[in-house]
Amino acid sequence: MCGIVGYVGFRPAPEFLIDGLRRLEYRGYDSAGIAVQHCDEIGIRKRAGRVEELAKLVEANPVEGSVGIGHTRWATHGETTDINSHPHVGGNGEVVIVHNGVIENYVKLREQLQTLGYVFRTTTDSEIIAHMICHYWLEQIKLGEDPESHETCLKAIQLSVARFKGTYGVVAIFRDIPDVIFAARMGSPLVIGIGKIRNEHFIASDASPFVGYTNEVVYINDHEIAVITADRMDLHHQESGKTTPSIHTLDQVSSDIDLGDFEHYMLKEIFEQPEAIENCLRGRIDEESATARFGGLNLTPRELRQIDRIIFTACGTSWHAGLVGEYLFEEFARIPTEVEYASELRYRNPPMSEDTMVFAITQSGETADTLAAMRECKRKGHKSMAICNVVGSTIAREADGGIYLHAGPEIGVASTKAFTSQVTALTLLALYFGRIRDLSYPAGKRIIKMLRAMPELIQQTLACNDHVRDVAERYFGFNNYLYMGRLYNFPVALEGALKLKEISYIHAEGYPAAEMKHGPIALVDEQTPSVFVVPHGGIYPKVMSNLEEVKARRGPVIAIACEGDHRISDLADEVIFVPDVEEFLQPLVTSIPLQLLSYHVAVLRGCNVDRPRNLAKSVTVE
Ligand code: G6P
Repeated sequence: MCGIVGYVGFRPAPEFLIDGLRRLEYRGYDSAGIAVQHCDEIGIRKRAGRVEELAKLVEANPVEGSVGIGHTRWATHGETTDINSHPHVGGNGEVVIVHNGVIENYVKLREQLQTLGYVFRTTTDSEIIAHMICHYWLEQIKLGEDPESHETCLKAIQLSVARFKGTYGVVAIFRDIPDVIFAARMGSPLVIGIGKIRNEHFIASDASPFVGYTNEVVYINDHEIAVITADRMDLHHQESGKTTPSIHTLDQVSSDIDLGDFEHYMLKEIFEQPEAIENCLRGRIDEESATARFGGLNLTPRELRQIDRIIFTACGTSWHAGLVGEYLFEEFARIPTEVEYASELRYRNPPMSEDTMVFAITQSGETADTLAAMRECKRKGHKSMAICNVVGSTIAREADGGIYLHAGPEIGVASTKAFTSQVTALTLLALYFGRIRDLSYPAGKRIIKMLRAMPELIQQTLACNDHVRDVAERYFGFNNYLYMGRLYNFPVALEGALKLKEISYIHAEGYPAAEMKHGPIALVDEQTPSVFVVPHGGIYPKVMSNLEEVKARRGPVIAIACEGDHRISDLADEVIFVPDVEEFLQPLVTSIPLQLLSYHVAVLRGCNVDRPRNLAKSVTVE
């Protein structure tokens, strides 16, 4: 979380920084700030609240200069106040930093710095970074080093980061050393953009602020520190010393962030799902062999046949997609599959056979727990793949291979099109793994035919939007919801409940419908609506019995059911119909009315749909 941006070159830095922060706001929006260097001074403007608040502040009270750093915060330590906002100042203003991550041993380091006379102005963990760098810089000077030399600053940063436990992406400027920015990374992403027009460099948490400036980037790796001026950029590894940067050319730095005619990104992204699914399928269907094909798995069919167990690891919505993946893999590929919360897997030590393959599922490719879980599995020698949306993200780069979703940028904090794209990618993978095992040619053909129809069927599903809004108008006042589904629709129930919680702050719980009688049924009353995902399928009558049990207790019921289901209208208070598709494809249609329901409820409750309180799009802290 937290977005970092920096610039050194010839342009007015504040404009680039603020525009960049707008693009990075999805990473956190508790506060924002910039620091701009000009003639031996650093002007700082920072404010609690959104980037627009900062923009107003800078307009009223401008800063000038063509070197600067900026930050948008997702608070971990210290309240969301003006003073706790980044940038933070070290010593008497000699050093100014922005930080993403958590310094776990900050309490001890703060005490040590306080005894040395450093005065702390904030309650953040980040402030120690600024003081620590300042401390080591002054120490170097005492030892006779040249205060203005980049080497002295580099040494100060190297000595500082060696003291930190935890994660950081830090960008620093020194008041008395003009025209240079320093960046250090351990666990929190930083990417450098190389200017194309004239000498200039950019730095940010991801490449989105570089749109319109450059598509040539250098990723800073863990343990590396970058020294960046307008015309030069050097990388220094903590152990191996100076390294040669490898320059990557991004196919496209996404600029697709216009809202178009939509009021919110979330709604736009819900409506983009037919196209996203089409893009995820594109080029991946091999009709002739009735299977899927992938360019990036980097393993031969023989190696893949040896896989005897799959672990999907993920967080949040991606974890729900993993649950659908478990059902798909066990049904079509007959491979024992488990889904692990990444935050648990990274510290657990489950027995894993030699041929266990791990898939990290992640929209952003930066989620700290997912990255750590994947690294832990890689460390043990397991093949570790990524199913990821953001091209060039840390997880995508570190995985042994994988699949990109091609869903396009997802800006709304609540994940929508990434979920259905993940489910689509997992369906293709299950087909592929199935076809190198026991899945027959005709069965493969059938799956392909049905998959190909999905973009159109999702388009048809979206026609329920007006009806869902009407339902939301009747139900937005309730404060507790239950979501029920079974088999492939159990993860959908979990995801529906998560969507409602995330953006409307309504308490909601998802359950496998039959589990209801083991607890949740105690919550059922006239004030607790139950959303039943009850499309046609082998256990439709069983789910209907669960639904009747709720009705018998006067619980209001909103049902998601298949077109042509005449029985459901007599039982449920509200019915939202979706196309009748095979059970394994149902999550791709049944999740859509649930996304729309949470969207409309949140709008009606006056919530900030795209930037819900306390959440962030990319969770780069534990
Ligand atoms: C955050 C987001 C969720 C997302 C989760 C995992 O909590 O708000 O929408 O599902 O992180 O993110 P990832 O990028 O790894 O899929």
